[in-house]
Amino acid sequence: MNAVEPSGDPRRESSRRRTFAIISHPDAGKTTLTEKLLLYGGVLSAGAGAVKARQGQRNVTSDWMELERRRGISITSTVLQFTYRDRVLNLLDTPGHRDFCEDTYRVLAAVDAVVMVLDGSKGIEAQTRKLFEVCREREIPITTFINKWDRPARDPLELLDEIEDQLTLDPVPITWPVGDGDRFVGVINRNTGDFVRFVRTARGSSMAPEQIIAKYAAGDGDPTWVEAFESVELLDAAAPDFDQKRFEAGELSPVFYGSALTNFGVKLLLDAVIDLVPPPRPYFDVNNDLRSITSPFSAMVFKVQSNMNPAHRDYVAFLRVCSGRFERGMAVINGRTGKPFSTKYAHSLLGRDRNTVEEAWPGDVIGLVNAGDLRPGDAVYVDTPVEWPAIPSFAPNHFRMAFCADTSKAKQFRSGVRQLDSEGTVQVLYQPDYGQSRPILAAVGPMQFDVALYRLRHEFGAPAELSSTPWTTARRTETVSAETLKNLPGVALVERGDGELLALFESPYWLERVIVDKPELMLERLIGEG
Ligand code: G4P
Repeated sequence: MNAVEPSGDPRRESSRRRTFAIISHPDAGKTTLTEKLLLYGGVLSAGAGAVKARQGQRNVTSDWMELERRRGISITSTVLQFTYRDRVLNLLDTPGHRDFCEDTYRVLAAVDAVVMVLDGSKGIEAQTRKLFEVCREREIPITTFINKWDRPARDPLELLDEIEDQLTLDPVPITWPVGDGDRFVGVINRNTGDFVRFVRTARGSSMAPEQIIAKYAAGDGDPTWVEAFESVELLDAAAPDFDQKRFEAGELSPVFYGSALTNFGVKLLLDAVIDLVPPPRPYFDVNNDLRSITSPFSAMVFKVQSNMNPAHRDYVAFLRVCSGRFERGMAVINGRTGKPFSTKYAHSLLGRDRNTVEEAWPGDVIGLVNAGDLRPGDAVYVDTPVEWPAIPSFAPNHFRMAFCADTSKAKQFRSGVRQLDSEGTVQVLYQPDYGQSRPILAAVGPMQFDVALYRLRHEFGAPAELSSTPWTTARRTETVSAETLKNLPGVALVERGDGELLALFESPYWLERVIVDKPELMLERLIGEG
């Protein structure tokens, strides 16, 4: 990694940072692209370890859970930092599986931009749309990478129409593919008019050499190239121009075509991340005031994770620095408890590898080991207090009652459940009559239950079992409405781990009836419902 000498000035340091995440439907190529970005960032050497276990290779970034290996999916998020040109890139990985969208939501609260990866033969898929909605809500700038162009792909113009129609996002192609599948030879860079010819390497194990050829000389009358050139002429006449302000507002997306597997177009994408993605923005606090980048140090906890390293049974809180300079060892305040704590064990993480972080700047992510009191959404600061708006929870639609299968482990069970709740592995709901011995685990997708049971048994020594429940839908309510709701059939009132009161309904039909019959009751929708 070519280290950049820090200047000591938060404004200058943050302007060097680009903090982003990659979102995609599973299998579109997020992991492969991440791996290739690391290759260009000099973190992975050519042909060396892969982000995902491939052909017997070890998994570098997320192999701490045996369950992940068994399932072959990436459940947990990691944070990767690397330098490219003179910029520091913070790439926050998002879980690949749809059941973990709550985790993704938290990660998206900590980034300044996303790269949306689409499969060139499929276009927009269900999970892309769901994640896009979150980006839209948060007005996150989106750069689009249309991947797998080394395979037969759909008409590139048709894919642009799909982005425009389905996402109401204006796509502006910055590159344009010449051929697809075996005939994919390169892209036209619409900014310069050059043709960038790619040279294949074995399975993309090293950076794809690029030959830049002035456009008129490149075609040689080849019909594939002529067709591409005609499309570019059409786009020049009809497509909107790239507009930085609209990009930063999340209304317009620059589009790149390529193939992560063969590295085609990866460098052009990375250059765009450096040139187009805005540097870290100041965060709004709970009163809607901006905390300036140059304010004293503050950070937002966006994720906590215990036992990342099974050998040490630790607890890591991931913080995005929002303002000022972080220095390892400094005493900071946990805004929720008001208690000071030391930050002696601050790390950056590349998968399991940990490096001690001596200092960090706005846009950076630090992992604080054994900062057990921190919860997602918490503010951490020095000098001037700050509180961040809550990171909303997703609407669960799977509910199971949990109980400890071995009564001698009741204590471990209770503390394990509390831990899973604070990490957001599942939401935990308590019914007044059952207390902590029969919590209801609530999830967006059923795989969260598998992870919860696995972790209760293996990390907390508390074998647990789940029983089914009749509930299918949850709404947020408050104490006055609760008085009426608790007397209605088919409704249960529960308290979520964070103190919110929820009403659970046995069917959406019944919920609709209650809404119509008793419009005075507070029954607020939760994010991602329906
Ligand atoms: P994900 O993280 O979004 O789920 O996708 P991932 O990168 O794991 O890629 C899913 C599959 O698509 C992998 O194949 C991967 O090699 C392939 N892939 C990714 N990018 C490209 C590309 O640009 N071109 C082509 N042709 N394939 C691509 P797999 O068969 O599941 O795994 P593997 O055996 O190839 O490792």
